[in-house]
Amino acid sequence: MASPASPIPLSRSEAYEESQNVGINPSDNATIAEVIRRRYGRRDVLRGLLAGTAVAGLGGTGLSVALPASDAQAQVASRFTFTEISHGVDRTHHVAPGYDADILIRWGDAVMADAPNFDPQHQTAAAQMKQFGYNNDFIGYLPLPFGSQSADRGLLFINHEYTSEEVMFPGIGRQEAKDKLFKDMTRPLVEIEMAAHGASIIEIQKNADGKWAVVNGSRYARRIDAGTTAMELTGPAAGHARLRTKADPTGRSVIGMLNNCAGGMTPWGTVLTAEENFHGYFWGKLDAGHSEARNHKRYEVPGNWYNWGQHFDRFDIAKEPNEANRFGWLVEIDPYDLQSVPKKRTALGRCKHEGAAVVVNGDGRVVLYSGDDERFEYVYRFVSAGRYNASDRRTNSGLLDEGTLSVAKYNADGSVDWLPLIFGQGPLTAANGFNSQADVMIETRRAADLLGATKMDRPEDIEANPATGKVYVMLTNNTRRKDDQRDATNTRAANEWGQVLEMIPPGGDHAAPRASWSLLVQGGNPADAKTGAKFHPSTTRNGWFACPDNAAVDPQGRLWITTDQGEAWQKASGTADGVWALETEGPNRGLGKMFFRVPVGAEMCGPCFTPDGRTLFVAVQHPATDGGEGFTRSGKGSTFEDPATRWPDFQPAMPPRPSVVVITKRDGGIIGS
Ligand code: FEO
Ligand code: CA
Ligand code: CA
Repeated sequence: MASPASPIPLSRSEAYEESQNVGINPSDNATIAEVIRRRYGRRDVLRGLLAGTAVAGLGGTGLSVALPASDAQAQVASRFTFTEISHGVDRTHHVAPGYDADILIRWGDAVMADAPNFDPQHQTAAAQMKQFGYNNDFIGYLPLPFGSQSADRGLLFINHEYTSEEVMFPGIGRQEAKDKLFKDMTRPLVEIEMAAHGASIIEIQKNADGKWAVVNGSRYARRIDAGTTAMELTGPAAGHARLRTKADPTGRSVIGMLNNCAGGMTPWGTVLTAEENFHGYFWGKLDAGHSEARNHKRYEVPGNWYNWGQHFDRFDIAKEPNEANRFGWLVEIDPYDLQSVPKKRTALGRCKHEGAAVVVNGDGRVVLYSGDDERFEYVYRFVSAGRYNASDRRTNSGLLDEGTLSVAKYNADGSVDWLPLIFGQGPLTAANGFNSQADVMIETRRAADLLGATKMDRPEDIEANPATGKVYVMLTNNTRRKDDQRDATNTRAANEWGQVLEMIPPGGDHAAPRASWSLLVQGGNPADAKTGAKFHPSTTRNGWFACPDNAAVDPQGRLWITTDQGEAWQKASGTADGVWALETEGPNRGLGKMFFRVPVGAEMCGPCFTPDGRTLFVAVQHPATDGGEGFTRSGKGSTFEDPATRWPDFQPAMPPRPSVVVITKRDGGIIGS
């Protein structure tokens, strides 16, 4: 018999608002807005001196948000030659002329060869565990055979971030509201949710007609989920008492991963997948004075987004206070090895991780950048102790277990200091409740607070460009920034639009203690002065965007941005989310161009190129769910019975289905060229 429902202080949407839109960082550290203001000064910004073209050197003053010094420079040809599509919103997807955008795999399609046919009216956990999961986010392409650069056969690793019960299950609507309190979320439905989380690994190949297809019966096919997949905790926190539970007295073995959002690839052919909003899966109340109270509060545990704790004790913090400490990690998975156990790498810190950008530094050390996606949270960097060896794959994976995690402090002079999170150094001592490196990793946020890191506008995906050594950080928005935290333009106090930050390691040394930074663009409509948006002046009415979330660097070294405006799409831009190409170098720097658009209510995730640059995979997440109220042809929130769109099938009995879309050029050419 399930335990009675715990009191729910906030609905999921309210909790989301509290966590994502307010931010819970209690420290006094400077926000990025304050740093920008200090660096540029209000008067200079108002005069348009943000329009410098120079790349900021260490200590330099050039901020290269938008841009060119003369019309002549603006005439330089774009590196992206496709015909731009327009902003807009409707029930389907759109891609630039001359391209195909085909559905590769949808929620409910077979991953395992023996998966039953998808029947959304009668879904079961057993079926879901063999089928493609929900809300696809990160996509990683791994060539087959291993070690090749094959661009016509490979594996796709795809995250399934979360579930949307109102459009997944018939007859229940959205469940976390106070008047429902998950009353319809039975144990069988919760088990389906757990099975729909995690990841899918599929084999795909490009057939003679140039079209990609899933290989049925592939020996690599695998589902990873939240309810059954065993994972190992590694690194400095593994085995620590704070990671031990009744089910796992070793503190080294966890079932499942939660809310896996963006991710990254390693040079040795594994995937890093980021556990983001893990707090939402917990409910219950700690005993008064519990030793984990401060820690859980800093991560907003319990989040009460789901009622898993009603049916599974480990998600009730009153019954299993340490279980939440076993989530919020970067998870390394080897898609080439069906038997491999996913590894939660605790040396990389614990937060609401978004992406993971991995580079091999010039000296052979492995450097990993990751963001903590919540308002006023931080950007992190890990530098391995050991060195990469291209011929020793097994040892390479261990590189992520030993090294130094640092947090970014952005300075007004254009520099960024990487502050190491090392037990015993500075404030990270017993006096502040840290008794080991394990404590520092479990409470990464609080450690970073004490070091004086810079509070950012929701750091999401991070990507490094191997061609230039520059690193791009998607800062998605921060509508709750207060007046006294405004930047000098005075228009971005309530930053609905986000910005793209560029970091430049000195001499290409990603492990250096100090780098430089610059703003590439500030999102929003540049034609509306109130937004404070900054793009290249030649950017068209369709070339600007709001809320950068994911990014990819293509094999030609060009940057592509995807957006997630959430329920605020109508207010932030009026267009559905999509893919934009964005110039980063030369006189066109900051010039955006719209390439792909999602159906109403979806967000755009997972941009991923094949090694030849001729295929782009994108993930259309949660079609119909976000902001259906603002869609004139719908005007209300979506349900299974009445969604804002039934993309991609458009069949009367079929709900909308999160899907991976494969984009190719009809002439077989390179995407964007
Ligand atoms: Fe899952 Fe921060 O997006
Ligand atoms: Ca994201
Ligand atoms: Ca997102």
